[in-house]
Amino acid sequence: MEYRSQKIAHWYFKIALLLFVLQVIVGLWLAVNYSFTVPQWIVDKFSFATARAIHTNLLVLWMLLGFMGGTYYIVPEETGSEIFSPKLAWIQLVALVATGVVALIGFVFGWTQGRPLLEIPRPLDLVIVIGALIFLFNVGMTMIKAKKWTAIQGTLLGGMLFLALLYLFGIPFYKNAVIDWYYWWWVIHLWVEGAWELVTAAILAFVLIKLTGVERQVVEKWLYVELGLFLFTGIVGTGHHYYWIGAPSYWLWFGGIFSALEPLPILLMMIDTMMHVKQRKLKIKNPLTWTIAIGCAVLHMIGAGVLGFMHTLPQINYYTHGSQVTVSHGHLAFFGAYALLNLLIFYFAVPQLKGIKVYDDRRGKIGFWTMSTAMTLMAITFGIAGVIQAYVERVLGMGYMTAQSYMQLWFAVTLVLGVIFFIGLLFTVADLFTMRPAKAQK
Ligand code: HEM
Ligand code: HEM
Ligand SMILES: [Fe+2]
Repeated sequence: MEYRSQKIAHWYFKIALLLFVLQVIVGLWLAVNYSFTVPQWIVDKFSFATARAIHTNLLVLWMLLGFMGGTYYIVPEETGSEIFSPKLAWIQLVALVATGVVALIGFVFGWTQGRPLLEIPRPLDLVIVIGALIFLFNVGMTMIKAKKWTAIQGTLLGGMLFLALLYLFGIPFYKNAVIDWYYWWWVIHLWVEGAWELVTAAILAFVLIKLTGVERQVVEKWLYVELGLFLFTGIVGTGHHYYWIGAPSYWLWFGGIFSALEPLPILLMMIDTMMHVKQRKLKIKNPLTWTIAIGCAVLHMIGAGVLGFMHTLPQINYYTHGSQVTVSHGHLAFFGAYALLNLLIFYFAVPQLKGIKVYDDRRGKIGFWTMSTAMTLMAITFGIAGVIQAYVERVLGMGYMTAQSYMQLWFAVTLVLGVIFFIGLLFTVADLFTMRPAKAQK
């Protein structure tokens, strides 16, 4: 750790990890709901819809906290200065976590806007906006005061600004459902396929430079290429969500073609990452961080690129829309791209924050491989359930519950895999909380 104020990042990471654990526990409960018939009195008190909202909102909350913590770690090193106001960073953390906790408890009592992933009621949205403004002000002021600009900083700040701006579109409620869904997708799609990709590119570039010792220009050059492509295909690619919501039919073409091009930048990033492996001059001391970087690039490509591409053309999406095929893609894409990105910056930063040069990575390795394998297999089992669902419901025209009875076995397998994933997660979280120096170093 070079700057004292980077310490605040550690708290963001710790809270993010605890919320990740909670998210997965609720995910297991969701899988129980699909695998068994849950007694009605439980459903009356704690419905599937409530649990689902908690699962997905926790996901968004912990990942955003991770990104923000990552930014607070990276910005001092990039600008060569302390954070403008560590106090503001604290206030922001407390405000966001408190809002999150109130929102989650509120869901249990039916206090919700009802729109998936953006269920948080309006008064709480406003607190989130204030939290985001504090964050942007704090990071922006740090950069302005330091008067030093790098492409990594710019991409990071740009991504975070874009992310916060898009959130505003999800706050109002439009009576016309078509318009409401248009803007809902601006948040959901343009987050994960736009703003979050920028944040990813910046964090990945930062870690790559530090980890491999490769020259800044080599990585930053790709940052510009990726930026352009992500924005280009990502923005028009939003059309792959406008097929069946009552939007004009030209979106079938625009959405299909542009979003099919989306995997291209991810592929470039992947090839680029491999090139860096060859080009690196320094020996990588802790291979685990490097493994996570490669795992992130590969599973990002498979989850978002391959599984996303599989249902992005309208001719296929007609059958798979809103089915478990979507859930399969959602899980592997979020895990590969963003859960692993968060773990990457956590694993890079935590040893530095603790002053450990070479850490004992045995538990971390078990955690990474268990989670990655279990989630890849879960994507397959969700996918099988989804294909059964698409066939029984949409080709054979049978009812929703008939399809569920054919899918149930695959949900049970998913549940078992989910438990294995959870064990891997516990290894990872325990490791990050109690990281130790490698034996030779003691
Ligand atoms: C890391 C990037 C990505 C993440 C995290 C992600 C995540 C998700 C999630 C969670 C959904 C479900 C939304 C809902 O209906 O509740 C979704 C839907 C979808 N995604 Fe992605 N996605 C990513 C990238 C991509 C890419 C690159 C493509 C295309 C090549 C794609 C194609 C689609 C399509 C077509 C749908 C709609 C499925 C339907 O009609 O039900 N996604 N994505
Ligand atoms: C390991 C244990 C987990 C299990 C058993 C699990 C299970 C589930 C289930 C059953 C759903 C509801 C699907 C539906 O509405 O039909 C769901 C939704 C979702 N989960 Fe998980 N989950 C787990 C972990 C995760 C992780 C680690 C992530 C992300 C990194 C994640 C991301 C999501 C997303 C994005 C959705 C919404 C999908 C959509 O809208 O299509 N889950 N999960
Ligand atoms: Fe999308």
